[in-house]
Amino acid sequence: MRRHIKNNVSWLGYIDWELESFHGDDYSIMNGSSQNAYLVEEGKTILIDTVWTPHRFDFVDNLKSEIDLHRIDAIIANHGECDHSGSLTALMDEIPGTPIYCTANAVKSIEGQYGKRGWDFRVVKTGDTLDIGNGKKLVFVEMRMLHWPDSMATYMTGDNILFSNDAFGQHYAVEELFNDRADKCLLWKEAMKYFANILNPFAAILTKKLEEITKLNLPIDIIAPSHGAIWRDDPLQIVRKYSEWADAYQEDQITIAYDTMWEGTTRIAHEIASEVARQSPSTVVKVFNVSKADKNEVMTEIFRSKAVALGSPTVGNGILSSMAGFIEFMRQLKFRNKKAAAFGCYGWSGESVKILQEKLRESGFAVIDENIRAMWTASSDDLAKIPGMVSSLLAQG
Ligand code: FEO
Repeated sequence: MRRHIKNNVSWLGYIDWELESFHGDDYSIMNGSSQNAYLVEEGKTILIDTVWTPHRFDFVDNLKSEIDLHRIDAIIANHGECDHSGSLTALMDEIPGTPIYCTANAVKSIEGQYGKRGWDFRVVKTGDTLDIGNGKKLVFVEMRMLHWPDSMATYMTGDNILFSNDAFGQHYAVEELFNDRADKCLLWKEAMKYFANILNPFAAILTKKLEEITKLNLPIDIIAPSHGAIWRDDPLQIVRKYSEWADAYQEDQITIAYDTMWEGTTRIAHEIASEVARQSPSTVVKVFNVSKADKNEVMTEIFRSKAVALGSPTVGNGILSSMAGFIEFMRQLKFRNKKAAAFGCYGWSGESVKILQEKLRESGFAVIDENIRAMWTASSDDLAKIPGMVSSLLAQG
């Protein structure tokens, strides 16, 4: 079923209520998701993006129920990742000669995934346009690394709609479709989680791209991303928020993430949290056992924190595997402007704190010297070090 967006523009995507994870199991989905595709019916009929491969036949059937597929003059593939290109094979079986507008890198990614099928790719770059009749045109803007090297956005003049693909999206199944009708708490929670877990590594590129888009001075009435809600009420609010998030974002929060074997490291984690509350009652403090908590939710909390404390006992001359995997993911996300401390118990060799500190430095954190390294279980001497550690984490600069 199509949903009206503006004038001759409709949504024809797939609301994925059952989705539980994305990127394999690397991104948890708590509130469903959607893959948004759009149909523009001006002098020319244009399809912008498709939906994920498992839904390709539903997508094509749905499209067929709305229009004669042979009316489609062109397809815009803003991004080659299969959640947006995954229905092309089924669609192109029906209309094989239809031109596909995309970046040179998107040709590589689409042919890499689906093989060379003789499709009529029309390679575009920033500033190229496509006249769609009725005095309107599509303007293409490369969005390299947002989220892949092949990504681009498409701007529609006249209706002033920016089809932004992954940028400004959320993994959020929102039947209400528009930001002004969506649950605001979920909308912003999912938008931040998406940014922290997917886009943050490209924050510097994003900042430049946002400046470039702003300089184009394009009137933007609607931002229509490829996941989640469409921004029609003050659409630039998400652009402003992205600028803020991309600028080494932090709130007055400390996140403590740890794992434990026999609860010794748990005890230290909770003592650190209590001390934060004692020294700075206004600071938000959150505590997570990484082997039990959802890693993407914890990463979102780290993204909004000004400091973190990571804990692991020593095991096998190293750290717990849960913590090792967690830190590897955290390193990839390239958080900036955050302090960090390490803590953990040990029985024999006791390397975990040093390893955590090294990995935190490699991940771009400013690691403070103060740490809690407790033999067997935290003694009163160990616990007495916590106020100094917390004080350093809370200190400005
Ligand atoms: Fe929604 Fe990068 O794909």
